[in-house]
Amino acid sequence: MSEQLIIFDTTLRDGEQSPGASMTKDEKLRIARQLERLKVDVIEAGFAASSNGDFDSVKAIADHIKDSTVCSLARANDRDISRAAEALQGANRARIHTFIATSALHMEKKLRMTPEQVLEQAKQSVRFARNLVSDIEFSPEDGYRSDVDFLCRVLEAVIKEGATTLNIPDTVGYAVPELYGEFIRTLRERIPNSDKAIWSVHCHNDLGMAVANSLAGVKIGGARQVECTINGLGERAGNCSLEEIVMAVRTRRDYFGLDVAVDTTQIVPASRMVSQTTGFVVQPNKAVVGANAFAHASGIHQDGVLKARDTYEIMRAEDVGWAANKIVLGKLSGRNAFKQRLQELGIEMESETEINTAFAKFKELADRKAEIFDEDILALVSDESVTT
Ligand code: KIV
Ligand code: ZN
Repeated sequence: MSEQLIIFDTTLRDGEQSPGASMTKDEKLRIARQLERLKVDVIEAGFAASSNGDFDSVKAIADHIKDSTVCSLARANDRDISRAAEALQGANRARIHTFIATSALHMEKKLRMTPEQVLEQAKQSVRFARNLVSDIEFSPEDGYRSDVDFLCRVLEAVIKEGATTLNIPDTVGYAVPELYGEFIRTLRERIPNSDKAIWSVHCHNDLGMAVANSLAGVKIGGARQVECTINGLGERAGNCSLEEIVMAVRTRRDYFGLDVAVDTTQIVPASRMVSQTTGFVVQPNKAVVGANAFAHASGIHQDGVLKARDTYEIMRAEDVGWAANKIVLGKLSGRNAFKQRLQELGIEMESETEINTAFAKFKELADRKAEIFDEDILALVSDESVTT
């Protein structure tokens, strides 16, 4: 059996940080239920201390979700951590995710703290959280741009304090795959007690590499948790997209040697729900969940998939929750695809000559119209001139 990759969904926390993607408690609970159907391992439900509304959302999700671990984000201070623990009280499995920035830039300019102060605060907050719940994730914010020696000190110290997951964020999407993968590997190799925690990757998409960086963190770095969001929703250009990372690991199990617990048939329903709730439209050519992800328009491709689907499909549309793949009839379509659609529509033609005549009409129409719908074909064949 393959080793498991933990899927940590942060649509309801980092995803919601996307400008304009704010969600109500009921909307968040609805999405959390869908994430549970999707069988994600961890749902980051929100940031309980950030507002009373978010506290209520985290609490509602903790009270209702039974199968996935429910997590709340908390800054590295007692108040945030206590609020998170309070909101998570009803959870079957609760996790507190605490963070503090460790890059020189963030420590000096944003936190106005010395590295020693940050180290102490990280230790103290993990110690405090550990007294409230047993599952503690620690993130050094802007971790990828942090000094590696300092980061090793912080991470080694928080493991000693009881952190069970160490998450290394590429907060600003600056990483490139090999370097990020090697960065994670270096940390794991240099920290003596590194095997006492699960290593996690959290990548932003500013340069369009969040999924590639996360995969490198897994393959090269040995991370066993990926943080991601439905449709790649998230701050600025977004986060690593859940549907892409899950399907990459599933489809290329031969290469990654890992598996995920996710029920992939729930991916498209989850994508639609998040899109409808936030109003963020999914681009048609988006991998896995875009309307064109399993659509074939070229005649050569259509002919290929009608003969054997794997000629042009590396995954099944049905496996990610689409009803079927799509043969889009248009000017590039061939006779084979046209004939197949006639059969699907229950149109019987007496002879090959009759089909040829209808096909000629179809091609003529397709030169004038970008996509030919079933109604067009029905109109076309009911036109007497087709059969004469
Ligand atoms: O991107 C980031 O650094 C984060 C942390 C809070 C984990 O979202
Ligand atoms: Zn983030």
